[in-house]
Amino acid sequence: MSANPPDIAAAAEALRQGELVAFPTETVYGLGADAGNDQAVARVYAAKGRPAFNPLIAHVPSAAAAFRLGEFSPEAQALAETFWPGPLSLVVPRSTGCPVSLLASSGLDSIAIRVPAHPVALALLEAAGRPVVAPSANPSGRISPTTAEHVRRHLKDKVAVVLDGGRCRVGVESSVVSLLADGPRLIRHGGVPRTDIERCLGHAILVETHAARPHAPGQLLSHYAPHAELRLNAEAPREGEAYLGFGPLHARGPWTLSASGDLVEAAANLFRLLHEIDATGISSIAVAPVPHHGLGEAINDRLQRAAAPRGMA
Ligand code: TXA
Ligand code: MG
Repeated sequence: MSANPPDIAAAAEALRQGELVAFPTETVYGLGADAGNDQAVARVYAAKGRPAFNPLIAHVPSAAAAFRLGEFSPEAQALAETFWPGPLSLVVPRSTGCPVSLLASSGLDSIAIRVPAHPVALALLEAAGRPVVAPSANPSGRISPTTAEHVRRHLKDKVAVVLDGGRCRVGVESSVVSLLADGPRLIRHGGVPRTDIERCLGHAILVETHAARPHAPGQLLSHYAPHAELRLNAEAPREGEAYLGFGPLHARGPWTLSASGDLVEAAANLFRLLHEIDATGISSIAVAPVPHHGLGEAINDRLQRAAAPRGMA
């Protein structure tokens, strides 16, 4: 099942009416709302059960639309031109007259913006004719959805429409780069590897993800959590554990992130396999070591959060 033009038009109309629409992007499914409608934005927080201090990303169909929402330094412009449409969100100062709800920015004077690389997302944003805020379409603290089925399972009765665009190609959320007065900071590892960002900037970037700065707001330690407990860097499963493998050495059992050891494939499979193992009711998952280069940084970040003691902030 894939979203067709009438579905997309109906979804755009629902957005304009202030309703919530779940839609596919290349990273994960988003829970979309009209970014300029405070009530719709508030409904997003309510549907997710999300702490309101966690600001949302505004999605637009083009860099030109993004440049109207925020103030882009030359470095921000270079990143936008290189990686959009794509799995990169840029945090920039809000422009004067930025129409995005202050609630979506949690009262900050900055705004996170992204142009997603997914035909259904782009068609929806064009048809809506306004910025759409969209956190990942999962209950707060739970695994992000990479299929429409994941969304239906957890948020079905809270959204007007779920647009189905099949499985998400990237499978982890966008990288988030902050470009405020204090210079570029990588604040979330994601779909664009750090080294690609650094190549575009021409220099190394400061990393201020939760691991580097534990108390950054909106970066809860226990996040992306499946119901099962996780044991990381496991060479083999123990009795009673499901095993999530990676690479030929660790390709045992039915679940492997990538039998060939491909990190791009592993990122695309990560959340889907955690959902799948959780659905069996198994209470603990041993995860094979995953290398830290390329998309491995984002994969290890999500695994560490999934394995963190629950309820920690
Ligand atoms: O791939 C993605 O980015 C997905 C898809 C749906 O586009 N969206 C997503 O949104 O992951 P969400 O809400 O789950 O994550 C937004 C991230 C959070 O880490 C939040 O703290 C950060 O962006 N963020 C948003 N606005 C910010 C701001 N003004 N300053 C600092 N961080 C911000
Ligand atoms: Mg999320």
